[in-house]
Amino acid sequence: MVYFISISRSLVQIFSIFYESIKRLAITTPKKRLGVLIGGSGLIGGTLAHYFKTKTEEIIDIRAPSSKKLSIRNTEDIKRYLRRVQPDFVINAAIATIDSDAQLAFEVNYLGCVNLCRACCALGIPYIHMSSASILPNGNNLTEEDHLPLSCNLTNYAKSKLMVERTLKYMGQNQGLDYTIIRLAIVYGEHDHKIQGFHRLFFSIADEAMPFFITKKEVRHSYTNANKLPYFVHHVLDNREEFSQQTYHFVDKDSVELADLILTLRSYLELKRPREIYVPYPVIKAGKYTLNRLSKFLNWFGISVRLPPELMFLENFYKSQTLSTSKLQQSSFKDPFPDETIYSALPQLVVYYLERWGHLNLITTFNEEFFGSNELEEDFINSPKELLDSVHQDSVSPFPDIQ
Ligand SMILES: NC(=O)c1ccc[n+]([C@@H]2O[C@H](COP(=O)([O-])OP(=O)(O)OC[C@H]3O[C@@H](n4cnc5c(N)ncnc54)[C@H](OP(=O)(O)O)[C@@H]3O)[C@@H](O)[C@H]2O)c1
Repeated sequence: MVYFISISRSLVQIFSIFYESIKRLAITTPKKRLGVLIGGSGLIGGTLAHYFKTKTEEIIDIRAPSSKKLSIRNTEDIKRYLRRVQPDFVINAAIATIDSDAQLAFEVNYLGCVNLCRACCALGIPYIHMSSASILPNGNNLTEEDHLPLSCNLTNYAKSKLMVERTLKYMGQNQGLDYTIIRLAIVYGEHDHKIQGFHRLFFSIADEAMPFFITKKEVRHSYTNANKLPYFVHHVLDNREEFSQQTYHFVDKDSVELADLILTLRSYLELKRPREIYVPYPVIKAGKYTLNRLSKFLNWFGISVRLPPELMFLENFYKSQTLSTSKLQQSSFKDPFPDETIYSALPQLVVYYLERWGHLNLITTFNEEFFGSNELEEDFINSPKELLDSVHQDSVSPFPDIQ
């Protein structure tokens, strides 16, 4: 009997030690957070999704529904999805194409964001919003307080982005919304599937479609490194007290002269064009007008010509816009790659995009010299039957490491 009682006592002791250590572990190990990322297939969203999937899988889980699964144009979609998933935060990197009409720009870029915020308010979770330098005037060292006046003359893109920023502030003050606005300038990075912004400029040079310099000397802009952004978003999520209800410019410390960037790209690509002749803005503006008329004329014959949407930013090629980084520098965020700039990233970007555009048959100039020829590609082109037979012989057994 005594023996039985002492065994039960020891068991109780073991269980209580076990229970205490589990409790302690639960207190010291933070709960794994679940985030919803809207726009995960885009340039910014894709980079964020990749970061959270590869660098934080132990502590943060990310769901990135496509716009087919969750369209932020649809309020019910937002409510249903967030109610079901019950996330700990929402990041919004969705945007309608920059030249979309007023209705789409309003519904996706503005109303969609407002509805996401209403859901975040209801769930009591943070909302991280990607904004844009398009809401800023031209000028140097612009601060987070600066913005264009809200007027009907703004492009649909800029107007919708500006309206969101205003509503976020309003909802912060009146509904206690826990938000952070991250203003991006010209973004560079991999995985831009649409060829837009900086990558459009790069593409025009690689495609030798820019005969002369469409800018003037000493015009400078700020650039955002897409690779660094996820580190900032992660930091912002971990430090809500500091970053809540705040706006930050997320751009490289030093601005870049556009003419110098074009020259550097040209020399990397070993091209002679664009020639260093600076075309004055009035000439370019007249050219844009003529192209617009011509494209409308061609439409009469059923030939659809679409000019690059970036033409709406043509004026910006001739005017500086640099964003102040003082607030970012003074924050607790530490740049994970302080030496990385657009210049140091260029070699990698050149290889990535030339390969991508080559595979998509968008440019052909560099294929052979840059990447050589691929043996399998050769077989696929010239001897598909032999290739098929060799695959059937050697490479169709089930993967043993999955079995
Ligand atoms: N790229 C730049 O140079 C730049 C510069 C400054 C600021 N920004 C800001 O950064 C953010 C992301 O831009 P980005 O360049 O990454 O855009 P992007 O590559 O064009 O991607 C847009 C994303 O939005 C999604 N989307 C579109 N309509 C949607 C809807 N109705 N519901 C849900 N998702 C929808 C798209 O998803 P689907 O593919 O599934 O339709 C796509 O994933 C935007 O806020 C933009 O203003 C970008």
